[in-house]
Amino acid sequence: MTEGVQTSPAFTPRVFSGIQPSGGLTLGNYLGALKRFADSQNKGVESIFCMVDMHAITVWQDPDALRRQTRELTAGFIASGVDPEKSILFNQSQVSAHAELAWIFNCVARMGWMQRMTQWKDKAGKNQQNASLGLFAYPALMAADILVYHATEVPVGEDQKQHLELTRDIAIKFNNDFGVDFFPITEPKIEGAATRVMSLRDGSKKMSKSDPSDMSRINMTDDADTIANKIRKARTDPDALPSEAKGLEDRPEARNLVNIYAALSDMTVDQVLTDVGGKQFSEFKPMLSDLAVEKLSPISMEMARLMEHPDEIDAILRRGAERARAIANPIIERTFEIVGMIR
Ligand code: AMP
Ligand code: TRP
Repeated sequence: MTEGVQTSPAFTPRVFSGIQPSGGLTLGNYLGALKRFADSQNKGVESIFCMVDMHAITVWQDPDALRRQTRELTAGFIASGVDPEKSILFNQSQVSAHAELAWIFNCVARMGWMQRMTQWKDKAGKNQQNASLGLFAYPALMAADILVYHATEVPVGEDQKQHLELTRDIAIKFNNDFGVDFFPITEPKIEGAATRVMSLRDGSKKMSKSDPSDMSRINMTDDADTIANKIRKARTDPDALPSEAKGLEDRPEARNLVNIYAALSDMTVDQVLTDVGGKQFSEFKPMLSDLAVEKLSPISMEMARLMEHPDEIDAILRRGAERARAIANPIIERTFEIVGMIR
């Protein structure tokens, strides 16, 4: 519906992204999201990152676990290189403008748009009647997260592409309905070798914290032996590695491991294959586990250290929320005025 629509040049560049504190960060979250957040912050663009706790409760969350997971996710951001001074780091429920704009967007978005969302269909499963209303409305809250900051760029993994297209549709419909050019048409940033990290057990499924098999994923808190064991047991095929990317086309498991190597080492897939083409997996897998341990173990150690000081994490979130409100409040106020609400 939004194909060919340009982003709005009148808006200053601003990055926004969010992750659900629904427990456990994987290598997919790191390569598809966290690592790239740190890169975008370091390019000097104003960056806002959010623990989307209100999204997390669209499926049941134990309250104590939610608190712990929100702190752990915050620690994961910081340990991955997101600096809470340079960037704004906060949790969604502390900035009420998200919920307020989400309600307006619930009245802009159409039922049919929501029904087409593959994440809704996957998460609700066969029993849609029993899913929460929040799960259905999830993408309107996500659009609100982004647009309440007039964010222009949203770095995410491939799985969020459809939600970002819906965000553009909501912005376009709002602007048209009210005859304004108020919300920017946001640009999805789905880039790099690891926009879709796949399960280590099945190259057709994405690596996910909700997969029942722990062997299918690398968790950011796994120790060196666990990482090495999971990579050793990762599914592959019997052939040697090719020397060019096109040799990986029909080899999803091999392609996944090479993509992970490329993303971890900041190389392109072709550069990696120039080095490792012709090698057997018995030789490549130990190289990959050494690299994964080298990159992930300082992060998991830093996460553990930060988790010893939950009060400091909470203070960082409160300070981030204050800075976020300073941007979001004027935008939600203006939105209410556009809609015709007396302020
Ligand atoms: P979630 O954990 O579902 O809240 O996802 C948080 C961020 O991590 C989003 O930007 C996702 O697109 C990204 N992400 C999650 N799993 C993967 C994966 N297997 N590969 C690449 N990116 C992912
Ligand atoms: N839906 C995203 C996910 O599951 C999380 C999210 C919520 C998000 N709000 C967002 C991502 C805003 C980017 C921008 O991964």
